[in-house]
Amino acid sequence: MPATETPIDRDALVAAAREARQRAYAPYSHYQVGAALLTEDGVIFTGCNVENASYSASICAERVAIAKAVSEGHRAFRAMAVVTSNGATPCGICRQVMNEFAPTMLVIIADAKHIISERTAAEFLPDGFGPEHLA
Ligand code: THU
Repeated sequence: MPATETPIDRDALVAAAREARQRAYAPYSHYQVGAALLTEDGVIFTGCNVENASYSASICAERVAIAKAVSEGHRAFRAMAVVTSNGATPCGICRQVMNEFAPTMLVIIADAKHIISERTAAEFLPDGFGPEHLA
């Protein structure tokens, strides 16, 4: 069965995001975020937030995972799990970056114990500006 037809293993993806969250570098906000991105061909890329003393140089967990995947040649994504302490949803910049590559990607929101909700990347960015506007 092609990877695109297999069911998404939400628990495995969330577990990978929880593990990545442990590696967050967040000495300023103390708010740890983990992400796990599932490609269409079944590979998982993880990310954590990486802060910086020059605060604006910080990067979110979701964009770390996406940049890792794209830089390794993957651009087709099925799902992303995002784990925080309180089940927060992705920031606006991360929504924009998700929408660039994968508007149909399922975004699974979880905390340390539970899956809280899921929506597509496009649902997280209604009326978003995307590649189609520059075509
Ligand atoms: N953060 C993420 O990693 N993802 C988000 O979608 C929201 C915010 C990080 C950035 C910063 O390191 C910390 O959470 C507090 O904003």
